[in-house]
Amino acid sequence: MIKVIEWVSGKIRLLDQTRLPWEEVFLELEDYRQVASAIKEMRVRGAPAIGIAAAYGMALGAQGIEAASKEEFMSKLGTVSQALSATRPTAANLFWALERMKQTAEAIEDVAQIKAALLKKAQKLEVENEEADRKLSKYGAELIKDGFTILTHCNTGALATAGYGTALGAIKAAKEEGKKIHVFVTETRPLLQGARLTTWELAGEGIPFTLITDAMVGHFLSQGRIDCVIVGADRIAANGDVANKIGTYNLAVLAMENGVPFYVAAPSSSIDLSLPSGDEIPIEERSPEEVTRIEGIPIAPVGVEVANPAFDITPHIYITAIITEKGVVREPYEVRLRKILSL
Ligand code: MRU
Repeated sequence: MIKVIEWVSGKIRLLDQTRLPWEEVFLELEDYRQVASAIKEMRVRGAPAIGIAAAYGMALGAQGIEAASKEEFMSKLGTVSQALSATRPTAANLFWALERMKQTAEAIEDVAQIKAALLKKAQKLEVENEEADRKLSKYGAELIKDGFTILTHCNTGALATAGYGTALGAIKAAKEEGKKIHVFVTETRPLLQGARLTTWELAGEGIPFTLITDAMVGHFLSQGRIDCVIVGADRIAANGDVANKIGTYNLAVLAMENGVPFYVAAPSSSIDLSLPSGDEIPIEERSPEEVTRIEGIPIAPVGVEVANPAFDITPHIYITAIITEKGVVREPYEVRLRKILSL
């Protein structure tokens, strides 16, 4: 499994996902501001991977802090955290990871000890994240029967989690269990995470797949070619509404219309009980150039008006089940999400 994020001799080594599948380029980041830029520019992406990158970014920023007191240290660490949190607003895992890093620092008095503890904590979060991936992938694989054709959107594999994967993890686990499966992969406009990254990961795993454009999903669902849809999540609200890559909502509605189960696979770190519903989840708006260009090549007249929301909200009524490392949750989500988070 490729190492997406790694701490090497006081620096962060990061696989640049904007260059995939053409080149495997690793960046060496020695400043937390570079980590913030890498998250913003989606060199590292996918909600859980963003969380892990931010945790390492905090550890990196902490190493460079000079402070005469804990109070001064915490104030400077706040600046680091602020820079990392101002990158991508939708992924719950980013804020979840930063909060855990802050709590780690708060619990220790000695500044040198805090620095060491923050690095250890980032490494621990990475390990726990992968454990969660593997557990939820096993639960997800139970829903995938031998002979299934599964439709997935965006990229939710090792690249997106810096672990084993979520929706794609369940697909990988089903294959590892010996099930004969086929995957339909949406290209995922505008940044082509499906076409560039999911196909790259599936090819590497030897899992057969078919790449389709986003607009083809209704066609294939209505033809009875898809047995289930599995996607990831960037944030899950208390009532089970899910923010995920733009186009997920279309998929969920079309899946229900055609009687196809629609599953969301995500670690519990993507669940945000502080938000009652999807209406409160902030949706990231990205640059117009991502829509007017593909890989730098213009596809629209200069200066056209563009909208580019990176995510949409799928209301919980369309979701057959949410697969987490703590189990598979079905309606009523409001009660059951709260219950699994307290486990
Ligand atoms: O904009 P991205 O590429 O970071 O969006 C990624 C997604 O929407 C994924 O589906 C989600 O983060 C889950 S990743 C396991």
